[in-house]
Amino acid sequence: MTEYTEVFLGTAFSSNSPRELNILEKHIFCINKDGMIEKIVSPEETEYQHLLDVYSGKENFHRLAEGQYFLPGFVDLHVHAPQWAQSGTALDIPLYDWLNTYTFPLESRFSDLSFAENVYQDVVNTLLANGTTTALYFATVHKEASLLLAEICAKKGQRGLVGKVVMDNPEQNPDYYRDADTQTALADTEEFILAVKELAKSTKQGVYPVVTPRFIPSCTDDALKGLGELAAKYDTHVQSHCSESDWEHGYVQDRFEKNDAFALHDFGLLREKSVMAHCNFLNDDDADLFAETGTAVSHCPISNAYFANSVIPIAHLHEKGVEIGLGCDLSGGFSPSLFDNARQAVMSSRMLEDGVDTNLPAEQRGVPASRITINEAFYFATAGGGESLSLPIGRLAENYAWDVQIIDTKLASAKLPIFNADEDLHDVFQKVMYLVRPENIREVWVQGEKVHERK
Ligand code: GUN
Ligand code: FE
Repeated sequence: MTEYTEVFLGTAFSSNSPRELNILEKHIFCINKDGMIEKIVSPEETEYQHLLDVYSGKENFHRLAEGQYFLPGFVDLHVHAPQWAQSGTALDIPLYDWLNTYTFPLESRFSDLSFAENVYQDVVNTLLANGTTTALYFATVHKEASLLLAEICAKKGQRGLVGKVVMDNPEQNPDYYRDADTQTALADTEEFILAVKELAKSTKQGVYPVVTPRFIPSCTDDALKGLGELAAKYDTHVQSHCSESDWEHGYVQDRFEKNDAFALHDFGLLREKSVMAHCNFLNDDDADLFAETGTAVSHCPISNAYFANSVIPIAHLHEKGVEIGLGCDLSGGFSPSLFDNARQAVMSSRMLEDGVDTNLPAEQRGVPASRITINEAFYFATAGGGESLSLPIGRLAENYAWDVQIIDTKLASAKLPIFNADEDLHDVFQKVMYLVRPENIREVWVQGEKVHERK
């Protein structure tokens, strides 16, 4: 019989499809030395008893206790790692002012590697403790500090996709915080890509360089063009902000006489491995372009409530075939938890559907067919994120990475309201999605390695 590196027994929740939950009751998950799920065995299969006979009692056999469940680790498609240092503050002003008054001064401090190390260690620990096993990060303009973030992810076992941020436009960025010039921005990006690819060779769970124009206003045309070329040359992921707010969307229309989506596409920045944050103001042509190019939307529902001047029609974009994942967008979004963002995604969609202005009659108040369910929000946080990044993550299925969070619903200090031993598992799942707090997340595993444990 094949020898497995780790064997787990328990009930797992995973997505079959956006609306359909897959409940794997008391299944056995066999993990190979590469940290991949090699085999999943249900209690009805003859091999089940045999696996129990061979592995029970061994050190690499893990049986969940009553009330514990496996969830796929979350895939966070949009995190500004440096902004963790200001999370929860400064959310009362518009995006443009927020960037210039708070965010650029903070990010400029990451030229100091010891400050960067403090913040980056803490943000990676915090995301892992919140069940996020893969994160797509913006760092800052600083090449060294950005590489440090990738190294910290590599060391702590998180699957980090990291971008050195490019902002070379002297008209839109302050003197104290921007790339020295376009050539330097592109040269630094290329060196950063090569350094992260080198680091990846010794990183089991993977670490990836990401081409990262902050957003169109931050960048000159030459930089955007050069970044598109680098993404193609090294076949990297790409990330940016797209059609986020009235101001930003309008700025791009003034500069290019087209929407962000087509402008980014002209520079070669919409690719299969591209992920664009926010995208609230995508029209149907923009959405079709996203679907054709395989570009994903990172939906950041908490951040959007502060900065996006709108509720994104996420159900409509999904219906049009656009890949979608969730992003916490620290610190435009204050919470490092994708549980919190999944909850907000559902609530915002309900507000869009019903509408918000009570001066209007009900039939004129909202946008019909806008709601999403908690199952869809869970899909975005897991399988949808994996598809957006073109990686085998986000599902508990064979040939996917063993990236999981172990949820304890019976923890004395944070017990979930489950009063029947035989409660329907669909209901248990919904309670988990709505009520779990970080203390319920007992263990987190990435690529078959335990990376977090709450004693
Ligand atoms: N647009 C450009 N930079 C940022 C940022 O840091 N956060 C958000 N929410 N939007 C941006
Ligand atoms: Fe952002």
